[in-house]
Parts: sequence; structure tokens; C-alpha cells
Amino acid sequence: MQRGLRAVRRAVGRATVLCPDAGGAVGVGHQALLVVADTTAVICEQAEVATSSRLRRCFSALPRTSPMTIQSINPKVLKCEYAVRGEIVTRAQLLQQELMTKPSSLPFDEIVYCNIGNPQALNQQPITFFREVVALCDYPALLDKSETHAIFSSDAIARAYRIVDSIPGRATGAYSHSKGIQVCRDDIAAGITARDGFPANPEDIFLTDGASVGVHMMMQMLLSSEKDGILCPIPQYPLYSASIALHGGTLVPYYLNESSGWGLEISDLKDKLEGARAAGTIVRALVVINPGNPTGQVLAEENQQSILQFCRDEGLVLLADEVYQENVYEEGKKFHSFKKVARSMGYGDKDISLISFQSVSKGYYGECGRRGGYMEVTGVSQDVKEQLYKVASVNLCSNISGQILMSLVMNPPKPGDESYEQFAEERDGILSSLARRAKVFTEAMNKLEGVTCNKVEGAMYLFPRLKLPERAIRAAGAVGMLPDVFYARRLLDTTGIVVVPGSGFGQVPGTWHVRCTILPPEEKIPGIIDRLSNFHQRLMDEFRD
Ligand SMILES: Cc1ncc(COP(=O)(O)O)c(C=O)c1O
Repeated sequence: MQRGLRAVRRAVGRATVLCPDAGGAVGVGHQALLVVADTTAVICEQAEVATSSRLRRCFSALPRTSPMTIQSINPKVLKCEYAVRGEIVTRAQLLQQELMTKPSSLPFDEIVYCNIGNPQALNQQPITFFREVVALCDYPALLDKSETHAIFSSDAIARAYRIVDSIPGRATGAYSHSKGIQVCRDDIAAGITARDGFPANPEDIFLTDGASVGVHMMMQMLLSSEKDGILCPIPQYPLYSASIALHGGTLVPYYLNESSGWGLEISDLKDKLEGARAAGTIVRALVVINPGNPTGQVLAEENQQSILQFCRDEGLVLLADEVYQENVYEEGKKFHSFKKVARSMGYGDKDISLISFQSVSKGYYGECGRRGGYMEVTGVSQDVKEQLYKVASVNLCSNISGQILMSLVMNPPKPGDESYEQFAEERDGILSSLARRAKVFTEAMNKLEGVTCNKVEGAMYLFPRLKLPERAIRAAGAVGMLPDVFYARRLLDTTGIVVVPGSGFGQVPGTWHVRCTILPPEEKIPGIIDRLSNFHQRLMDEFRD
């Protein structure tokens, strides 16, 4: 027996023989249960396992079980959901493949992706000035060529010089400081100062690979166990529920009021905070998305003041998602940054901990794939900031083109610059078209039977409420789907239009919504509305109670 065991140990290294056969010996005609590296259990049934070389042969012939299984991976990953790229989108991609291989096999000839705020995927053109600067920074040798002046605008050249000359050796392929390139942070701080009329400090700016990374970093800072909670709007952009789940905290929901245009009510915030505290949750922060995703509301300044006062009084960090700050369409509505509102109330660093997230992905620039963003971290002590810097430095730095773009977004051409006219024309063209699209889509939604849709005051989405017939709800249940998933799936299969079921964002129980972007090109919108309206009417007729 001892000899047999030693042979087995030699043969499989870290493997342990758990149970030699009933006779206790590992030998000819015996069976052994091997546990390899404590994770993989296999039954080894072999005529001879007495010698190490034979055992090795026997072992290598066994099917290998991966040491990483659904049972063994982090359960927080299993809990995390992200509907924006969920099962409807996976199906859309399959249908797209099918259209390519068998062009007339489906009742439509293209997939229209209205599921995600990804403007350039739907033909939005990049802003010329931004791309000129990024191109020159990416290939700095162009700066020293005379032909460059015939192709690029003089202010783009000057800006590129300013950026690359601040980088040792003009090495835009080198890691930068973990918070970001100093001139980019300086320009972002200058842009915030100009926007708000209150000073911003470049040392408070952390450049990130999109706002998402900043949100994850903050969740990492704030959440150490399920006892830690984050107040989050419902409906919400699922980055929040996903990152809270991944970092092991608790989402404390508060509801936006659909009947008052997705208003944020302080009384509801207070109720939810008290309820969570009574249940033993330590609520660390409040998330506010302004302008809202998926809801599109733009907060009034007085509402923001109440939110700031609430956070100050309750000792909550305010996580202000301000990535849609340039996307405001409704007349009379204006974006105010929480920082500006706080400072105009006389709140300084000692009164309120405020983290503002911004991104290159939205606005009129829509540079989602460039992965640029920043967070401005104010009202946080120096020692905490040092810890945040440590977390940032674990990622080394965010990507350099994203950093450059973020600095351009916050500090674009000014009147008098050579690029200004073209820049302003491109920016205004995109924003006014988005405003028209928001209006046309909302009006069309409100004409559909049983559908109500609040105004899209800002951001990039419609979030219509669907009052579906009971028979449709039962039909959904019969195939194991939520009614909004059933609706979105049927819409895709019938029309090729991809929307996201409201359940992916959270909604008042018993209500059903879908989220649809306003991003398809204007000339395609009448056709999309026709397809959507016909589909909806047929569905209502089919299931009418
Ligand atoms: C409200 C909101 N916050 C953050 C993000 C993440 O953006 P980024 O591409 O900068 O990571 C998005 C993306 O859609 C969003 O809608």
C-alpha cells in the first residue's frame, strides 16, 4: 500500500490519493479516486496503476475538468447582470449573421441597434478638430512636416504640440502618470472652471478608461461587504447595479417618479435611507444620474440643492453621473453640475464629498470606443485621495488617446480659433438633430395604443411604459419570459429593431417598459417608426383582452 501511494504521489505531483480500493492497495486491477490540486476529482479505473509511468499514462488519458467552473468562480460575478448587452442583443447578432448568409430569410433586411448609446455605430461622424489633434498626437512626426499645415488646422497643430511637448520624448505610447497626463488634467480643470464659474483643481482629476472604470473604482473604495449600501435610482443605468454586485455591496433602491416626468423626490430618498439603516445597512453613497439614463430627465437646480443638502445632512458621498451634460434638448432646461450648485450654495470641500463622472462617450462627440473619462474628486481627505491614487496606479494609467480626447471635450476650440466655425457647426448639427429625433420618437411612442412616454429632456433614450393586455402577459409567462422581454424579443424577431427590456434597468413592480435610443440616423427614423407602430398594433390586436 505505502509503495503504491508513493508511486502515485510521484506520478501526479500534487495529486493526493483519497481512496484506494477496498483492499487498501493501489495495484493491478484497482481503482483510485484522485483529487488533483484540490479541485478536480476523477475516478481512475485502470488495469494497472502500480507504477508511476503507467499511472501518468492513465491520468493523461482522462478527460480534463477545468479548474475554473461555474461552481468555483466568484459568486458575485454570477449575481452581476448587464442587460444593455444581454440576451436580446446576442439574438440580434445571430440574426445579423443569418441576414448575411441568407439575405431574404427574415421579415426585415437589417438589424437596427437601438439598445445602446453608441452614436458612431449608428453613423454619427466624429468631430474633426478632436480627431485632428488625436491623429497628430498619435503620430507626432507629422508635426514637423510642412505638408501638415496644408491638411490640419493651425489650432489642432498648436494643441497637439502643447500635449506632446509635455510628454517626455513625445512618447504617446508610454504609460502616463496614473491620474493622467498633467496638461490634460490642467485643461480639464480649466474647462470645469469655465463651465461652472468656480475653480477646479487638476489634482482632483483622475482620468479613466471611460466613466465606467471611475464608477468601479469608487465602488471598490466604498464597499467592503454586503453591509455597505449605495442608494441608486430605479430605473438606473445597469453599470451601477452591476458594479455594486461585483464589489459585493447592497443596492438600496429609490424610485424616480414616472408620473412627474421621472422626478427625484427627497421624501422617497429619506424613506429608503431610513429603511436601509433600520435593516442594518450602512449607506455610503447616493448615485444620481443627470441627465438621466434611461429616463432622460434633466434635474432642476432646486432639486439638486435638496439632494446636496440631503447628502450633507446624512453624511453620504454624492456620486454624480454627469456623462450626458451636453445632451439637453428641452427648452428651458439646462444642465447644472452638482459641483457648481454645491459651490453656489456655499458648500465647500468640508461640507460635501462629491465625485463627478464625465466621459468622451456621449455628448455630441460620441467617442465610446476611445474609452476616455474622468472623475473629479472633491471633499475627500488627502489620505483617502492617496488610497484612490493607489487604486488608480494598480491600473497604471488610462489610455492616452482617451485622455487627450477628454481634455479636448472639456476644452474645445474657442471663437477666433481657426477650427471654431467648423467645430461649432458639427457640434450644433449633431445636437439639434438629436433634439429633433427625441421629439419625433416621443410623439410616435405616445401615439401607440397603451403606451405613454415622458419627454426626452436630455441624454439619448426613450423609456416608454407599455400597458400590455393581460393575455400578452400570460403568453409571456407561458414561455418563461417577463412581459417586457417578450415584447422586446417579438419586436426584434418581427422588425429587426433592438431595444432593451425595462427589467434590465429596474422598474416599479407590475409596470413594463423598454429602452430605445434616439440615435438612428434621421432619414431612417420614419421607416423605424412605421415598423415599430405596425408591430405594436398587431401585437395589441393579437392579445387584446
Ligand atoms: C449614465 C451612464 N454612465 C456611465 C456610462 C459609461 O460610459 P463610458 O463609456 O464612459 O464608460 C454610460 C454609458 O452608457 C451611461 O449611460
